[in-house]
Amino acid sequence: MDRARHPDLVNDVDEVLITEEQIRAKVAELGAMLSRDYEGRTVVLVSVLKGSLPFMADLMRAISIPAQIDLMEVSSYGGTATETSGLVRILKDLSSSIDGRDVLIVEDIIDTGLTLNYLLRYLRGKNPRSLRICALLDKPARRLVEISIDYRGFTIPDKFVVGYGLDYGELYRNLPFIAVLKPEVYSAS
Ligand code: IMP
Ligand code: MG
Repeated sequence: MDRARHPDLVNDVDEVLITEEQIRAKVAELGAMLSRDYEGRTVVLVSVLKGSLPFMADLMRAISIPAQIDLMEVSSYGGTATETSGLVRILKDLSSSIDGRDVLIVEDIIDTGLTLNYLLRYLRGKNPRSLRICALLDKPARRLVEISIDYRGFTIPDKFVVGYGLDYGELYRNLPFIAVLKPEVYSAS
């Protein structure tokens, strides 16, 4: 952990689950796999803001084939800081048509799967040629709907994680690793 770079944030960290080096190696591996699988095509990477921002930024640079990017932002109605409600609202829609395109959804984490389930139905309705999912983190213990993840970074235990884009109360997204916070930080809100 880099205490000098993020002193206040790092004080709240209980455990680093995935280090910067592990993330870097995994992103390179996924990028190579995607470049192979989509060879000869132009892939449209659709990032789901805000949590996927660092992953998207790193993954797109690890892909060697032609790629375009688009950004969506969704939020769930209600819910709490650590629970999704499953009712998804689109805050920012795609800026270009994906009709006939090879689309890859780039997600930070799949937890209950409710957000992605909604998004998949929404994007399928826009008639892409193919639609696959690349998720950095998979938390299968809490899955409520079955989701087939085509490209998976890490499977993690049933813990609420922060860092590398993931937030708790909109904070900690700028930590460069993936961590669990101290119990008193979660219980303070
Ligand atoms: P879902 O439960 O699969 O619908 O997850 C939806 C969203 O909840 C994810 O895209 C994240 O933004 C957020 N989320 C789920 N689990 C975590 C976590 O452990 N840390 C931070 N955000 C999370
Ligand atoms: Mg997200």
